[in-house]
Amino acid sequence: MPVIALIGAQWGDEGKGHLVDLLAGKARLVARYSGGNNAGHTVVNHLGTFKLHLIPSGIFDPAIVNVIGPGVVVNPEVLLNEIRDLQARGVSTAKLFVSERAHVIMPYHIMLDQLQEEARGEGRIGTTGRGIGPAFADKMSRTGIRMADLLHEETLLHRLRVVLEEKNRLLTRIYNAKPLSLHDTYLRYLEYGRRLAEHISDVHPIINRAIEKDLPVLLEGAQGALLDVDHGTYPYVTSSPPGAAGACQGAGIGPTRLNAVVGVLKAYTTRVGEGPFPTEVHGAEADELRQIGTPWAEVGTTTGRLRRVGWFDAVLARYAAQINGIDTIAITKLDVLDNLPTIKICVGYRLNETHLEYPPATVAVLERCEPIYEELPGWRVSTRDARHFQDLPEAAQAYVARICQLVGARLGLVSVGPSREQVIQVVDLF
Ligand code: IMP
Repeated sequence: MPVIALIGAQWGDEGKGHLVDLLAGKARLVARYSGGNNAGHTVVNHLGTFKLHLIPSGIFDPAIVNVIGPGVVVNPEVLLNEIRDLQARGVSTAKLFVSERAHVIMPYHIMLDQLQEEARGEGRIGTTGRGIGPAFADKMSRTGIRMADLLHEETLLHRLRVVLEEKNRLLTRIYNAKPLSLHDTYLRYLEYGRRLAEHISDVHPIINRAIEKDLPVLLEGAQGALLDVDHGTYPYVTSSPPGAAGACQGAGIGPTRLNAVVGVLKAYTTRVGEGPFPTEVHGAEADELRQIGTPWAEVGTTTGRLRRVGWFDAVLARYAAQINGIDTIAITKLDVLDNLPTIKICVGYRLNETHLEYPPATVAVLERCEPIYEELPGWRVSTRDARHFQDLPEAAQAYVARICQLVGARLGLVSVGPSREQVIQVVDLF
């Protein structure tokens, strides 16, 4: 049985939640492996509409084990609220396990994320302000607090005392903000630990057992390959690795165990936050892609921000596929293009007189790249009722086929609307 990583192959918001929800039903274990509550997806199923930020999408089936892996940074308050909301609506969280190795987002992370962003002024990244970057920075500088620490009074007090002294100096002296009380913070996080104790565990044996028993495992990506801290449009990136290597690292699964990497690509491109976006469009073209007022509207699940929109960028998608070993692609929101007379795909960049096939590393250079477009005919009929690939109009089939050819991966799934039935499965992934 395969272990599948389903990852975003653009700048996040590719509609992963929608596909994960479908695939999760076939998995026996679903794990989140990177990011934190900067992610967010909306799941619509027979129980209603749910917004999940931390809890994996397998949660709606009581038989599925759901894991928040060591590579995730966890805001305990957000997690407790999510658990409470799910339970209140009849969803069992008995099989939810949070790695004791996962790092905790502390109040100073959230404060610093917002204060640092403010201080960046014109150079702001457009972070979600959830404390993600500072939490990952502390993890790397080995001053983080982990979920296991919330269960040990002495360890928590000791670590917090050391860390808070430094953070309070930073908050008060550099940012003129109020210091945090050691006493209050300690008691608050100890209480979170107490309330989450039944979920905090060593997830390695749980994941390993599933793999040894050959059960289907789904690694649920958050954000997207172009927000990767190593390979993305740095510094306009997130602070963890959202791709396939990150899936192995953040869940604790060896790369040789991964059987497939599914890259999710929107049929066009969107981005929230700042940073270069070569195929971005504005005005009426953007309004068409944004679909405001529909269940597909391009508004962020976590922040409510309007997403920037543009044409499909095959240069970036191919790069994401190569970096992550994407062998299968899932194309989402094809129906958003239904009314367009012609559709553009960016097949290369022009920089001065040079033709580029790969994105340059430096933002200032990427911003000077002009997209080279290929124009394909639109189909101008609704694709929303298509249930098989052959049901799609010929021009839509040709558009999808061209994307696969440019990206260099086979087609796995196509979605033509927000419901489960509107996902066309071209290959059976589990
Ligand atoms: P951070 O992850 O909050 O530090 O934000 C860094 C950048 O990543 C910003 O441009 C965010 O808008 C973007 N970002 C973070 N999480 C997501 C996501 O789930 N979807 C889309 N963009 C995201």
